[in-house]
Amino acid sequence: MLTVQHLIGHRGTARLAPENTLPGIELAARLGLPWVEIDTQLSRDGVLVLLHDDTLERTTNLHGTVREHDYATLASADAGTWFAAQFAGTRIPRLDNVLERCRALGIGLHLEIKPANPHETDTAAAVAALLHTTALPERLILSSFASATVAAMHELAPEHLRAQGAEHFPENWRELSERLELEAWHVDAAVITPQLAPMLREAGMALRAWTVNDRARAQELIDWGVEAVFTDAPPALLG
Ligand code: G3P
Ligand code: MG
Repeated sequence: MLTVQHLIGHRGTARLAPENTLPGIELAARLGLPWVEIDTQLSRDGVLVLLHDDTLERTTNLHGTVREHDYATLASADAGTWFAAQFAGTRIPRLDNVLERCRALGIGLHLEIKPANPHETDTAAAVAALLHTTALPERLILSSFASATVAAMHELAPEHLRAQGAEHFPENWRELSERLELEAWHVDAAVITPQLAPMLREAGMALRAWTVNDRARAQELIDWGVEAVFTDAPPALLG
């Protein structure tokens, strides 16, 4: 039976509040979600901020890539008006503030690292440095689609759980899982088969599915052994 315990707020609560912002994370906590997922990347001057896209146009009033701007510029962006007028003035959060907020809210954090090419390793190094100097949420799982970033986290902050993100489940999954000592795979729900979660569980790992906004589909995936689903719309899944 699908319950709130199976839900991870995707990019905060992406259908209900502007994605990758503090209001979205706070709403996930108010809805009673055990976990929230966010995306982080590096500014030009080495500050980790929350944003999904490489570029700023879709979710802010700035232009260009995150990577080409200093934090001072990114901090001036409006990351809320594009979503709804009531969120005007919402800022792009810094990751250190998000770690502190999740800790205060008691919500677990799925921290997805989205390095701009070719910054797979230095983005991971910045995350590792921050994790070593900041009070952390009680539950924290790191992930990235970039295996080089997951590998760097394995080397630099091995004490934190790691998941590999995947659009397609790769043939070399076993080798990668063992080398990176993965706790889980985060796989596109569209390519998940009924066999996948049992196969991973047999190998000692969990399977989580993104992004699921349909209640029947979420229930099916949970029935197949998927541990949790990343969702933009938690109320739609719980009915
Ligand atoms: O963490 C995985 C999930 O967020 C899916 O990917 O593109 O929405 O960051 P994306
Ligand atoms: Mg993500």
